[in-house]
Amino acid sequence: MADQITSILKEAYLDELETVMNYLTNSIVLDGVHAEEVKESLQEDIQEELNHAEMLGNRLKQLDAKPPGSAEFEANQMDLQPPEDSTDVVSVIEGVLTAEEDAIETYRSLVNAAREADDPVTEDLAVTILADEEAHRTEFRGFQKEYPMN
Ligand SMILES: [Fe+2]
Ligand SMILES: [Fe+2]
Repeated sequence: MADQITSILKEAYLDELETVMNYLTNSIVLDGVHAEEVKESLQEDIQEELNHAEMLGNRLKQLDAKPPGSAEFEANQMDLQPPEDSTDVVSVIEGVLTAEEDAIETYRSLVNAAREADDPVTEDLAVTILADEEAHRTEFRGFQKEYPMN
């Protein structure tokens, strides 16, 4: 059970770093008047996602494990690759929503695993991060309503 917790923590750590990479790239590449708000929001979220990675890494250390380096990294966020058309804000909004849904699923599974393993500290960490990911999703659902450009 403890193994399951460290493996979810490691996976979540790498996911956060992939999210940082793609939010940073998209916050730079998007163009146009409609992009400004989304870019600013991505810039704020980058700091939060990086902070999540740091919290997860520190928890791994407390559990006598360690966060992975880049050799263990495998890319997953195909929906979040920078769009061909740099004014395609909608594709970035949709990619962010997919990434946030995945994160929500990961932290819900961490909450459950930690609860079953009677590890309230990891459970509390997972609940804290889960709340941030739900807030990110709400923010981008708002953008999705605002940009009906399909
Ligand atoms: Fe995050
Ligand atoms: Fe997030």
